[in-house]
Amino acid sequence: MGRACSVLLIAALVCASQVLFTSAADGAAPFALRIACGSDSESYSPETGYLWSKDMNYTGGSSGNLTTVSRIASQLKTIRYFGMPDGSENCYNLSVPNGQYLIRMYFSFGFKDNSGREPEFEISMEGTLVYSLTRGWSTVVDNEYVDSLVHINDGAATICFHSSGHGSPVIASIEILQINDDAYNMGTPSSNFIMRTVKRVTAGAEKSGYGSSLQADPWGGDRYWATDTTLFTPGSSVNSLHTKYNISKFNNPPNIYPEAIYQSATTTGPENKLSYTIPVLPNQNYSIWLHFAEIEDSVTAPNERVFNVMANGLPLFQVVDIVKMAGGVRTALVLNKTVLVEGKTLTISLEPLAGEISINAFEVYQLIPREQPTSSDNVWALQSMKQGLELPSRVGWNGDPCIPQLHAWYGVNCEFDAAVGTWFITGLALDSQGLKGRIDDSIVNLQRLQSLNMSNNVLTGVIPESLGHVSSLVTLDLSYNRLNGSIPASLGQLPKLQELLLNDNQLVGEVPPALGAFPIRGGVLNLANNDGLCGVGLRSCNTMSHRQKSGIVIGVIIGFMVLILGGYLCWKRRMNMLRGAQRLPRDAPYAKARTTFVRDVQMARNTLANHFSRPSPYSESTPLNPH
Ligand SMILES: *[C@@H]1O[C@H](CO)[C@@H](O)[C@H](O)[C@H]1NC(C)=O
Ligand SMILES: *[C@@H]1O[C@H](CO)[C@@H](O)[C@H](O)[C@H]1NC(C)=O
Ligand SMILES: *[C@@H]1O[C@H](CO)[C@@H](O)[C@H](O)[C@H]1NC(C)=O
Ligand SMILES: *[C@@H]1O[C@H](CO)[C@@H](O)[C@H](O)[C@H]1NC(C)=O
Ligand SMILES: *[C@@H]1O[C@H](CO)[C@@H](O)[C@H](O)[C@H]1NC(C)=O
Ligand SMILES: *[C@@H]1O[C@H](CO)[C@@H](O)[C@H](O)[C@H]1NC(C)=O
Ligand SMILES: *[C@@H]1O[C@H](CO)[C@@H](O)[C@H](O)[C@H]1NC(C)=O
Ligand SMILES: *[C@@H]1O[C@H](CO)[C@@H](O)[C@H](O)[C@H]1NC(C)=O
Repeated sequence: MGRACSVLLIAALVCASQVLFTSAADGAAPFALRIACGSDSESYSPETGYLWSKDMNYTGGSSGNLTTVSRIASQLKTIRYFGMPDGSENCYNLSVPNGQYLIRMYFSFGFKDNSGREPEFEISMEGTLVYSLTRGWSTVVDNEYVDSLVHINDGAATICFHSSGHGSPVIASIEILQINDDAYNMGTPSSNFIMRTVKRVTAGAEKSGYGSSLQADPWGGDRYWATDTTLFTPGSSVNSLHTKYNISKFNNPPNIYPEAIYQSATTTGPENKLSYTIPVLPNQNYSIWLHFAEIEDSVTAPNERVFNVMANGLPLFQVVDIVKMAGGVRTALVLNKTVLVEGKTLTISLEPLAGEISINAFEVYQLIPREQPTSSDNVWALQSMKQGLELPSRVGWNGDPCIPQLHAWYGVNCEFDAAVGTWFITGLALDSQGLKGRIDDSIVNLQRLQSLNMSNNVLTGVIPESLGHVSSLVTLDLSYNRLNGSIPASLGQLPKLQELLLNDNQLVGEVPPALGAFPIRGGVLNLANNDGLCGVGLRSCNTMSHRQKSGIVIGVIIGFMVLILGGYLCWKRRMNMLRGAQRLPRDAPYAKARTTFVRDVQMARNTLANHFSRPSPYSESTPLNPH
């Protein structure tokens, strides 16, 4: 009895908590971030009341004025553009909760920086190239406005603009609108793709509109639904249908659609032919979503309206009977399938089997496989190095270093490791870039770095000891800089090093003895024109230390004292001899003291000679190579 009660109680609690949880999830508003690019103030759009944030979290660029009325929100008046001095890749990095998003961008140009010419550029999201705005893009109204479905799993939406050298990339607004994580489930993990919207169409509708204007649930991401009037294949004979009746199951989480898209349909005239032609990029996979609801009063039962749907002549869905499949009239039916399109158009045709054809809405998405990112410790290392090196902004270095592969960072070589599924940095070539900073310790995280060339800059500070722990290094060229301090002993331990060029710096101290064996192994070593270096192949280090220097001074003093004493003793002996006195057995100590004295003086002279003659005859190091 008591046990049954507690079981019931627990069950009740579980139920209650589930109810609470569900209602909280249902009630919560989706995350939404709307950026007014180039704007320094917040605003609300008069049409929707949505909050637009001021421009934030971009890597560079300038703001300018929008020369047209924004198609997204009419109060927006500014743009951001990225000119040559800002470098060839610039990004927005916006922190958002992990989840699935509809990311929408609006482009415009015409501001003074592009002198009225259409710029050409590319846009990547999460490191994957998604849009290419090539010549003529601005003449197609729909190209100004793009959206994609993107899974964010690193806590930040990263959107990068890549210059192609033809004008400054430009952006007017960015919207990052959360949708249900499981929406658009294609049966395969959609998080492996970015779904670029090709077309989203409400058939038979009188006008296009955003979800907000269609009273759609905000979890649908305020999608834009265009009318189908421009897409009919010539020869189609069409009518439109409308209903004011409610539609069942249109809101069927995780897939949420505006009811309005089911309340209109395109159907056929007497010839009963209907097809749509959509321009696409060839040889890509497209995910096609079709929406149906029986809204014609005369069709009330199965088998009255039956048709096949073909994509470029091949069956997409066969024997579609809306009433039968949806389970009734005025009930939403959603079908999806992915197809590979080889040509430049996708033609969706509906072929009747019984009755007339009818369709309410459809969506076409290009599936863009996501690029794998660069290893995060490598990214972190390069970001720290960028700071340390004071990299000029024209060099860029924003976003992910290796991806999109077509837009890897300047001077960075990458290699993909399929076993780990990430990219690694294998080379850095930043020679002659006017770098004024220092080499950051974080370089130790580039554990696959094989070559580093920062020759001919103005780098200061020391060679980090950690560089000697980048065990993959084969070539290291830091010549012609202003590096000081000593050569870290760790460099002598690099197992694969074949070329070490540290010449023309301000290095001091003893060359790590291990580097002595380096040329013998066949390596190339150049340490020339570092006045303070000694050891291996250079002049001896003995004369350099303070202890040695004070030794010289003491030696000189003792020498003088010995001389004076000796002179005195000689004089005394001579006096004694003159006096005919006995010979004293005390020659040895004076002789020894004199020898010491002479050698020390010679050493001191060498030191001075080395100090003032440049270059030192020993500092030509390459010839040490025995081959
Ligand atoms: C943009 O327009 C405002 C006036 O509306 C003007 O003050 C400002 O200088 C313009 N900015 C640029 C970059 O042209
Ligand atoms: C923008 O950057 C600031 C500071 O780096 C950060 O605190 C803020 O959360 C960021 N905002 C967004 C939306 O990413
Ligand atoms: C983007 O922002 C997130 C947090 O806001 C941060 O962890 C990440 O390092 C940033 N990425 C870049 C490339 O700046
Ligand atoms: C899309 O189609 C796949 C494969 O037929 C199916 O597994 C999946 O449930 C469909 N998605 C939706 C939301 O209907
Ligand atoms: C349609 O549904 C709404 C609630 O969602 C309701 O207020 C309205 O009365 C319904 N209309 C009809 C014609 O049933
Ligand atoms: C299209 O999908 C097929 C099957 O999933 C895949 O093998 C192929 O690589 C994809 N093609 C492109 C261009 O994504
Ligand atoms: C490093 O760059 C300099 C200048 O561009 C070039 O002369 C030198 O050969 C490069 N070093 C190596 C090791 O390739
Ligand atoms: C190296 O030079 C910097 C100035 O560029 C100086 O602050 C630092 O003390 C020097 N370090 C050594 C070890 O000489």
